[in-house]
Amino acid sequence: MQNLGRGSKATPIGVFDSGVGGLSVWREIVRQLPAEDTLYFADQAHIPYGQRSLDEVRRLTEDVTRFLLGQDAKLIVVACNTASGAALHALREKFPEVPFVGMEPAVKPAVEHTRTGIIGVIATAATFQGDLFARLVQRFGNGFDIHTQACPGLVEAVEAGALDTPETESLLRRYLTPLLDAGIDQLVLGCTHYPFLSPLIQRIVGPEVRLIDPAPAVARQVERVLTQRDLLAPPEQIGQHRFYTSGDPAQFAAMAHMLTGAKHMTRKASLLP
Ligand code: DGL
Repeated sequence: MQNLGRGSKATPIGVFDSGVGGLSVWREIVRQLPAEDTLYFADQAHIPYGQRSLDEVRRLTEDVTRFLLGQDAKLIVVACNTASGAALHALREKFPEVPFVGMEPAVKPAVEHTRTGIIGVIATAATFQGDLFARLVQRFGNGFDIHTQACPGLVEAVEAGALDTPETESLLRRYLTPLLDAGIDQLVLGCTHYPFLSPLIQRIVGPEVRLIDPAPAVARQVERVLTQRDLLAPPEQIGQHRFYTSGDPAQFAAMAHMLTGAKHMTRKASLLP
C-alpha cells in the first residue's frame, strides 16, 4: 500500500501548477525556507486549467496529488489559483491526512490598502467561476468596488516566455484599460503566472497602482503549517530541488531557468489515468 501523507521532516514539499506559473510561489518558498527540499510538478500536458471545467480540474489535481504523495511529499502547495478554487476543498476531503496550502486572490490585502476603494482582480475565467472567489468577495469586499477581468492568452504568453513582447503588451492593455478607467489603485494578481509579467503590468498601470502577488504570504503559511506539524527540515540542511512535467522536460527546464534562474534537470512524469 502507498504510504500517503506520512511525510517526515526529511521529505520534500510538493508544489504544483498547470505549468510554470507556480514557480512564482516556488521561488518564494525556496527564498524563505532554504533548508527545505522541494518537488515541483507542472501539468503541462493539460494546460491551461483555466479553460477546463471545474470537474476536470478536480480530477487532474487528484492525479497530481497522488503523484506527489508517491514521491513522499510532506505538504502540498496548490500553486495555482484555478486549481485551488476548483479543487482545494475536494482535495482536503479526499486526502484528510495531507496538509495542503492553496492560493486565493489577495482581495483581503487589497481592501486593507486601497485609498480609492476600487480594486481590480485579474485571473483565469475558471477562478472567477468557482465558489472560493465568490466567498472571498462576500467576506472582504463589502463596501468596496471590485472589478474582475479574465485574461485569456496570458498564461500561454508566460509559458512561451513572451514576457515583454508587443503582443503580450497589447493583450495586457486590452485587459487593464477598463480597470484603469474604473479608477483602481490595487491590482490583485489572481493567477500564479502573472507575477512574471509584473514589470510590464506595472509599466502599463503606472506607479500609482499597487500590484499584489500573494506568493510571500503563501510561503509564510507553508512555514506556519510545517511548524505546527513539527515537519520543518533541519535548519542546517541545504534544500535540494526536483522538477517534473507531464509535458516537454527540456522546454520546462529552459523556462524555469529563464524565469527563476534555477538550473535543474526536469524529468518527464505521466499521471496515471
Ligand atoms: N497558474 C494558474 C493559475 O493560477 C494558471 C491556470 C491555467 O492553467 O489556466 O490560475
